[in-house]
Order: sequence, then structure tokens, then C-alpha cells
Amino acid sequence: MKISVLTLFPEFFDSFTSTSIIKRAIEQERVTFECIDFRAYTKDKHNNVDDTICGGGAGMLLACQPIVDCLRAIKTDSSVVVMMSPQGETLQQAKVREMISYDHIILLCGHYEGFDERIRDYVDMEISIGDYVLTGGEVAALTLSDALIRLYDGVIAKQSHEDDSFENGLLEYPQYTRPIDFEGKKVPDVLLSGHHENIRQWRLKESLRKTYLRRKDLLVNRQLTKEESKFLIEIKNEDN
Ligand SMILES: C[S@@+](CC[C@H](N)C(=O)[O-])C[C@H]1O[C@@H](n2cnc3c(N)ncnc32)[C@H](O)[C@@H]1O
Repeated sequence: MKISVLTLFPEFFDSFTSTSIIKRAIEQERVTFECIDFRAYTKDKHNNVDDTICGGGAGMLLACQPIVDCLRAIKTDSSVVVMMSPQGETLQQAKVREMISYDHIILLCGHYEGFDERIRDYVDMEISIGDYVLTGGEVAALTLSDALIRLYDGVIAKQSHEDDSFENGLLEYPQYTRPIDFEGKKVPDVLLSGHHENIRQWRLKESLRKTYLRRKDLLVNRQLTKEESKFLIEIKNEDN
């Protein structure tokens, strides 16, 4: 698996690639991560990659030539080109899961006022990290890269992300570590019982409770199991 980030600011990713889990994943060659400064591909005699907006308007737009030439130079048959864009599909965990099967992901970071519209003809998908506008695509590319890399085989233990929020369509249940009593706030007894089935049931119910209280939208299209329906009824009754 390889991630290539096309950016005008490769240094932006220095701390990302040299810290903690991501650093280890790169060192252990679970993922190849590279940043390519597409300014190196400009044919402009002043080295520019942007230009004024046709029809007028504030700011500058990224021009087609440097980006398209850069894409042509690095793309292979297995590459998927992803434009980071507030106009794209909003990123969800299910999309991240789908993307980990790609061999080579190219993340295209915009800047200034964004991209010349015609660049969209050279990309496979557009991804947004939320309904707000960032100064550049780097934060978005970093977010997507992080979400991807942690799911690659061997980067973190499979069990660590199996129960993560969104993985099974619910928010994760509450978790605790020592001390057992912190300022009078106690870890629930069931988690100290060693009774695996009771712990599983408690976690499922609390996961449903969190989701019900914080993200009802996640439950709308969920096919609830019998057990989940029972817990949800209990939760609603407890809530009243
Ligand atoms: C200032 S924004 C351009 C916004 C553009 N004028 C618009 O309104 O759609 C510059 C760049 O930041 C990136 N960006 C901004 N917000 C983003 C978001 N929510 N998700 C992904 N990328 C984003 C994109 O690469 C974009 O081209």
C-alpha cells in the first residue's frame, strides 16, 4: 500500500510521519508514504502553479498543467486519485474501510481558492472531511492518511479497532483504566467481574446508549438484533 500526497507544502507532513504509530508503520514498511511538491512540474517561467480566476473574483486558482503533468508522471494502473475538497463526499469510516483495499492512493491537496474545475476530469473521487473550509488540503489529506494507515494489517492490533466507534455502526462503549476509584467515581462493577458474557452485554448496551443519546441518526437504518432491540427499549425506559 502506498499513499502519495501531492502538495505545495511537503514539510507539513514531517511531524505526522515522524511520530508514534504512523512513524512505526512507515519504518516497518506496512505503508509507503511520500509527499510530492507538484510545483516541480510547472512549466511556468516564474515557477507559478496558480493564476487569477477567469471572470474575476478574489484569490488565485491552482492551474491544470502542473497537477496533470505530476499525475501523469506518478500514476500507475492501480492508482486511485483522490481530490481533497469541501465539495466531495463526506468522509466516513465505511469509506476509509473501502479505501484500504486500494494499492496506491494519490491525495491531491488544493490551496488558495482551490482547483481549476477541469482538474476534476483527472481524479477518481473527491473527499471532504466535513462541512467547513480549510486553507488547504493538507489537514484533510493528513486526516484521511491517518484513518487509513491505522487500519492496515499489523499497524495496530485488530481488536483495537474492531470495537472503535463507527466500525459496527455504533459509538464505542465507555472505557476505564486504573485507579478503580477516582475522586469517588468508580469503574462499573461488571467490568471488574471477569464475567465475559456480562461484560459483552454491558458494553453492547452502553454502546447503544451512547449512540442513542448522541447520534440517533446512526440508528435510523440499523437492522437491530433481538438483543439490541431489547436493550434499546430498556434504555428508552431508563431515559424517561
Ligand atoms: C480554501 S479551500 C478552497 C475552497 C473552494 N473555494 C470551495 O469553496 O469549494 C482550499 C483547499 O483546501 C482543501 N479543503 C478545504 N476544505 C476542505 C474540506 N472540508 N475537506 C477536504 N479538503 C478541504 C481543498 O483541497 C481546497 O481546494
